[in-house]
Amino acid sequence: MRVWSGLLALVLVAGCGAPAAVEPVDVVRLSARAPARVDAAALARSLAAVQPGWPRPSLTADCRKVKCVALTFDDGPGDYTQWLLDELDDLGVKATFFVVGQMVAADRHHTLPRMVAEGHELGNHSWSHAELPRLSDVGIARELGRTQELVQKITGVRMGVMRPPYGSTNARVAAESRRLGLAQILWSVDTLDWRDRVATIVARRASRATRGSIVLMHDIHRTTVEAVPHLVDALSDKGYRFVTVSELYGKPPAPGRKYTEL
Ligand code: NI
Repeated sequence: MRVWSGLLALVLVAGCGAPAAVEPVDVVRLSARAPARVDAAALARSLAAVQPGWPRPSLTADCRKVKCVALTFDDGPGDYTQWLLDELDDLGVKATFFVVGQMVAADRHHTLPRMVAEGHELGNHSWSHAELPRLSDVGIARELGRTQELVQKITGVRMGVMRPPYGSTNARVAAESRRLGLAQILWSVDTLDWRDRVATIVARRASRATRGSIVLMHDIHRTTVEAVPHLVDALSDKGYRFVTVSELYGKPPAPGRKYTEL
């Protein structure tokens, strides 16, 4: 939205012919009546002329035909998540966020509605980041169910994917995930960003992704957010597209089943 309104203003000013002669009041009047007259396709073409590389290609690519990577961010929302969302917005990249219920409850920045509005996918990462197999069946149900309900209440979205904390799962976790309609999403590329808080190292590890990889990162670390533009550049240069987990499979993954890559 930020980009659109900024570029829209640019086009309106550029279209005036003699910007220096335009009084502020005229700009306001033009802006006020512009929305009703905007043809989205025509605007996209004219914006592409002033902004090379824009609009970006469709993100709903067929990942069995083109090279896709799913970037995933766990344990938030945290202090750096809004900044990460700004970066992803600038880069035109969609990702999947496996959120912790307690972090969602503590969030004061409307982060989850923004994620949904900007096309990211939400996943369930339990309520308290518990190691689920150590809990009773009731405990597992509570950890997943509570997060499921809170996210639905805040965003209207019923999540279809979960990631067990520490990647730790068993048959009982699978059964409860299935009952709640949640596929279990693990990963194939671990950036170890929680251990090595160095943006260049995180970017290099993520750049090792191959076709259909699911990349594990954490949006609670500043260094991870710093790494994102670099790893996106590196993977883009190799021809990868960035998709959400469900986009990677081309359909909602099967509840209860465990996935690590395409
Ligand atoms: Ni985690």
